[in-house]
Amino acid sequence: MKILVLNGPNLNFLGIREPGIYGKNTFADLLRLLEETAKAEQIELIQYQSNHEGDLVDKIQWAYGKIDGIVINPAAYTHTSVAILDALKAVSIPAVEVHISDVDAREPFRQISYPGLACEKTIKGHGLEGYREAILYLKEHYAS
Ligand code: DQA
Repeated sequence: MKILVLNGPNLNFLGIREPGIYGKNTFADLLRLLEETAKAEQIELIQYQSNHEGDLVDKIQWAYGKIDGIVINPAAYTHTSVAILDALKAVSIPAVEVHISDVDAREPFRQISYPGLACEKTIKGHGLEGYREAILYLKEHYAS
């Protein structure tokens, strides 16, 4: 099974940005967790982070015909991006949305998720572990 993990803007600053909200673990820690999970679950995992909306759309389109499942934390684009929503709908690849923080308990503008409308499931507030949960969910439901 091949899984694409997509991370949006400022997630490369994990460990530096607002540690009270996102924790002290760094982006390198996240990459390590992804690698370990992929190895343990015998999954081929491709990771991509970008601060640019169009790059994330390009990567979703690239995944068409190549990838079996997408884990996506669109970060701030969660609350604005119809383009990412449309890209996920266009490729029809099973996707799980992850948020490190519990967005439900934060500002009202974080209550809407456009990409989430095209996702099978949303995991929020579980920290970096949420990514592992998302990978396991995709494996359980979509591994052939
Ligand atoms: C986030 C939540 C978003 O509201 C925020 O813009 C982020 C990170 C999270 O993982 O909790 O950048 O997606």
